[in-house]
Amino acid sequence: MIKQAIIPLAGLGTRLLPLSSVFAKELLPINGKPGLEYIIQECIDAGIKEIILIISKKKIMIKNYFYNDKFYKDLIKKKKDPRIIKEYKKILRFRKMIKFVYQDKPKGTGDAVLKTKKFIKDKYFLMLLPDDLIIKKNCSKSMINTHKKYKVSVMASMTVNKKTVSRWGIFELSKKLNKTDYLIKDVIEKPTTKKAPSNKAVIGRYILPKSIFENLKKTKPSKGGEIHITDAIQSLILNNEKFIAHNFLGKYLDCGTINGYINSSKEIGKL
Ligand code: G1P
Repeated sequence: MIKQAIIPLAGLGTRLLPLSSVFAKELLPINGKPGLEYIIQECIDAGIKEIILIISKKKIMIKNYFYNDKFYKDLIKKKKDPRIIKEYKKILRFRKMIKFVYQDKPKGTGDAVLKTKKFIKDKYFLMLLPDDLIIKKNCSKSMINTHKKYKVSVMASMTVNKKTVSRWGIFELSKKLNKTDYLIKDVIEKPTTKKAPSNKAVIGRYILPKSIFENLKKTKPSKGGEIHITDAIQSLILNNEKFIAHNFLGKYLDCGTINGYINSSKEIGKL
């Protein structure tokens, strides 16, 4: 069973400037609700019991969002507003299952994952990247089902426009296992169009093996001077660890860019 999830939240959010200059991008409202709440809800609905949020001192606002008790309690005492009581109860419910760890320098997703090493208990855990919202179908849940069936690592995958491959981690696939799942032969972080083995991209949902931590310790910074989870995964694949690319059925929304962010609210508003 996959019981723990981690969510890296220490990134600077440069693609969302100026919105992210003084505000944590993951708390920006998407159709009236912080983006992060959609991600947490996806975890809960997928049966996750503990969520580790990786933040930095600069993003302490995220912790404050979940620990603003005095403010809520004073308001509830004064106003007894049922809506506020309901919202506060929701925050308390979320808080029961979240834990914070710190990544004080934004050295990449691989480095963020490494910060959770001593908290991961089981052989596999889930990672969700908060820029990627997937609506209409719970992607984490269907990936967990694939994992249950094949007992190996799983990554979310989507076909993208060939011209945009340099924006993503890109797969080279091998064997087809069923309608939605393929074994991965290789994965390359943000290749040029020329070097891309396909137009199948990594989307921000990963079921990773605990063994990745040992690998991450040795992973050197690459593209953009960051330590990429993709590089550690590729090295595990070369060491015969099996990874599956799961073509999810939900709709992908990119909340990490201004245009994508604006569109996300529109799409969720239509649900
Ligand atoms: C990260 C990963 C990349 C993946 C993408 C999905 O990139 O490094 O492999 O395709 O998320 O959103 P980032 O968005 O941090 O540039």
